[in-house]
Amino acid sequence: MNICIIGTGHVGLVTGACFAEIGNQVICVDNDEEKIGTLKKGKMPIYEPHLEELVKKNVDEGRLFFSTLIEEGVSKSSVIFIAVGTPPKENGEADLSSVEKVCSQIARNMKDYKLVVEKSTVPVQTGQWIKRLFNLHDSHQDFDIASNPEFLREGSAIHDFLNPDRIVIGVENERAANILKELYSPIIKRSFDSSLKSSLVNHIPLLITDLQSAELIKHASNSFLAAKISFINAVADICERVGADVEKVAQGMGYDPRIVPAFLEAGVGFGGFCFPKDLQAFIQIAGKFNYDFALLKEVERINKDRPRRLVEKIEEALWVLKDKTIGILGLAFKPDTDDMRFAPSIEVINLLQKEKAKVKVYDPVAMDRAKMILKNVEYGKNPYQVAEGSNALVIVTEWSEFRDLDLAKTKSLLASPIIVDGRNIFDPAKMKKLGFVYKAMGR
Ligand SMILES: NC(=O)c1ccc[n+]([C@@H]2O[C@H](COP(=O)([O-])OP(=O)(O)OC[C@H]3O[C@@H](n4cnc5c(N)ncnc54)[C@H](O)[C@@H]3O)[C@@H](O)[C@H]2O)c1
Repeated sequence: MNICIIGTGHVGLVTGACFAEIGNQVICVDNDEEKIGTLKKGKMPIYEPHLEELVKKNVDEGRLFFSTLIEEGVSKSSVIFIAVGTPPKENGEADLSSVEKVCSQIARNMKDYKLVVEKSTVPVQTGQWIKRLFNLHDSHQDFDIASNPEFLREGSAIHDFLNPDRIVIGVENERAANILKELYSPIIKRSFDSSLKSSLVNHIPLLITDLQSAELIKHASNSFLAAKISFINAVADICERVGADVEKVAQGMGYDPRIVPAFLEAGVGFGGFCFPKDLQAFIQIAGKFNYDFALLKEVERINKDRPRRLVEKIEEALWVLKDKTIGILGLAFKPDTDDMRFAPSIEVINLLQKEKAKVKVYDPVAMDRAKMILKNVEYGKNPYQVAEGSNALVIVTEWSEFRDLDLAKTKSLLASPIIVDGRNIFDPAKMKKLGFVYKAMGR
């Protein structure tokens, strides 16, 4: 199939590379000229494991192209995916201005039938708005709108795309459903040739729904996962008050097959470009339809308070923060990505700087991006440089590199042997034995 992906970011680029990998002709479009220029030079604008090799392979084999021109993408394709950003507005609503803009451009350039697919995460009923916009343009062209929410996770995006736990397609007719079924059939049947195909996933459910339900599935899924994280964080706070260990509580809960252990990890909370904004957008769209989603408002409140809880622990260990040097390990919102969007590290550092602490930081891959956001911080080349002379070392992102730290060496470098672990990566008993003042979340 000939496919156009508009928006060549974390989702669009991965989607484009993977659709090319399973045999389609794909043109990825973006209005960021620098990004497209970088890609045309064979360089990646983001860090994502295996992305570079997959992009290179498919460009070399003539299936993957990049352009800044929507009209080129539209004229060469029958299926058009919208994968532009849907960032939060100040009031938490999803900002759909990029979606609207590209839809207008598609409508203006359509010369024959197109299937236009929402890949971006959008509030329910966006599909209806897109349809209205296309009809307004009165191009007399035949088109269908579909919703195909994306569930990939940054850090394992390629694997997730090619080995999804489900594929959700929201459509209004069989024609659109059949096109998307055919497009995804190599993934569902596991019939493509790729070293990135996992043999672990045998059956991939394909769920076909109406447009609204597909749109809701994405917001409801992310909000539910966010709720799990805030739930265990609330339990962590209770654990601290009563002398229990949240890791054990989560373990005991997770054995229940109705609960499962995933996302029951207490810590400094969730960040990234999905959970915080999707949660807010879901609360807002529910409100527009006169439903006060108070449950999710509390999920958000608990999460927003996590960086403050972490800084409180640093204060408990150090008393006064002014003029102390705090070493931060981990800046990206989660391991295996350089994505800093809504990363908890930003608020933790902000709170420390408000107290006039000096901040030293290290992240295995996110430091270039961090430099565009963080002010007045010192960058270390490795965790030990950050530990050296710091009054406390704080774990904010659970990179595996930090789990493998030489703790004796770390202790010898620190000005005082204090580790505040925002991700519970160490064993409290072991840390105590090594002579650390060790503070974790809910333990
Ligand atoms: N990042 C994730 O893990 C993830 C996962 C699932 C779904 N999503 C959703 O996918 C969407 C995209 O997210 P992302 O992380 O890829 O964002 P991103 O910011 O990495 O990429 C968006 C891209 O769209 C481009 N763009 C914006 N306006 C444009 C326009 N008018 N014309 C052409 N290009 C334009 C931007 O330049 C950018 O490259 C969002 O709705 C997000 O919620 C993201």
